[in-house]
Amino acid sequence: MASFDFAPLFAPGLPPPAGKWAGFAKYNFTGGHNDAEKLPLEAIIKAATDVLTREGRTLATYGLSSGPLGYRPLREFLAQKLKRTAGIACAADEILLTSGSLQALDLVNGILLARGDTVIVEEATYQGALTRLNRLGVHTVGIALDGEGMRIDALAAALADLKRRGVRPKYIYTIPTVQNPTGTILSEARRRDMLRLAGEHGVPIFEDDCYADLIWDGKRPPALHAMSKHGGVIHIGSFSKSIAPALRVGYIVADWELLARMLAIKTDAGSGALEQMVLGEFCPKHFDAHVPALTRGLRAKLETLMDALNEQFGTAAEFEDPKGGIFLWVKLPDEVDTSKLYQPALAAGVAINPGPEWSTDKAHGRSRTRLCFANPSHDDIRAGVATLAEVCRREFGVPNRIANVERVRA
Ligand SMILES: Cc1ncc(COP(=O)(O)O)c(C=O)c1O
Repeated sequence: MASFDFAPLFAPGLPPPAGKWAGFAKYNFTGGHNDAEKLPLEAIIKAATDVLTREGRTLATYGLSSGPLGYRPLREFLAQKLKRTAGIACAADEILLTSGSLQALDLVNGILLARGDTVIVEEATYQGALTRLNRLGVHTVGIALDGEGMRIDALAAALADLKRRGVRPKYIYTIPTVQNPTGTILSEARRRDMLRLAGEHGVPIFEDDCYADLIWDGKRPPALHAMSKHGGVIHIGSFSKSIAPALRVGYIVADWELLARMLAIKTDAGSGALEQMVLGEFCPKHFDAHVPALTRGLRAKLETLMDALNEQFGTAAEFEDPKGGIFLWVKLPDEVDTSKLYQPALAAGVAINPGPEWSTDKAHGRSRTRLCFANPSHDDIRAGVATLAEVCRREFGVPNRIANVERVRA
């Protein structure tokens, strides 16, 4: 029997279909996966048992007995944790729990953006944010970064230019605390300048802080949300990077007036409750001890990655030592096109994220790649980088010395 043809019925403007999952690459440097060894599994199992034993029957109602903002004990934990670590003064009712912070991005975009709008982003930024903006038909203006995050002179120039053209951007999207992909932290002085400029131009700031717990020395400037004197900052975060991404728990901190608009378009009748309950039980007891253990392990993996790159690529791989997080943003020689390196590398078992997908200016991203070091083991990091160097040399003639042995292009 011929199968029913849905193709003529598809809604206009759908993105291309997703590929079938073929399993993870042997050496997987893509995505934002976490370190499996550092998952606090025993404490999570105990938290799940304890919370279900005590209040599992609340699962019989939509929203438990907490309502549509999500499991109240987790929101209460977040309110006190955000105060302590990021200086944010907010009540539990100014926090909306979401299905990962990706849903937070969708909700913020959903209440603010329309086709043809303009937003300001960092020139290298999170691919998930860029693809959403592209799909919504929103223009992005990329702002140059340096070792301290978004450059304020470049932001001022872009805002002035947009004003001259009569364009008021809908928001400034920034990942100020361990930027994805560059790993920089926006200094407190720059935060002040960004808030001043945003205030002068009447533009809100959309602060994505999902890596803020993963800082090597544990020191972070206050959140933009905390420093803002007149509101105008929407803050989002996630447990994906500090605990586990498969849990799918993120959050939005915003005034009720905004959350009320977001709840009206959040049509899923509540994000998954079980994981919120487990985190609500786990976090007050264990979060503070877990995070430094995780970051110590991540830092050790980063050292292995940087050593392996230095050994295998020599000066052909340039990078700044990130301040925290799970990514290294690597610049390869100009002749390397990382979009073209992607397939042969994958065929050899190495998965990388090509730079153009993380860049507003595709030419800037062309010879760059983002490597996630959290998930592969130390041995796999070393073997994966060695394989990547071989493939890169075969395809692009660089590096011409691998592990200090000179090679002639095959
Ligand atoms: C900057 C940034 N924001 C948001 C997300 C979404 O993460 P999740 O939906 O798992 O919270 C990611 C994931 O990598 C990210 O890097």
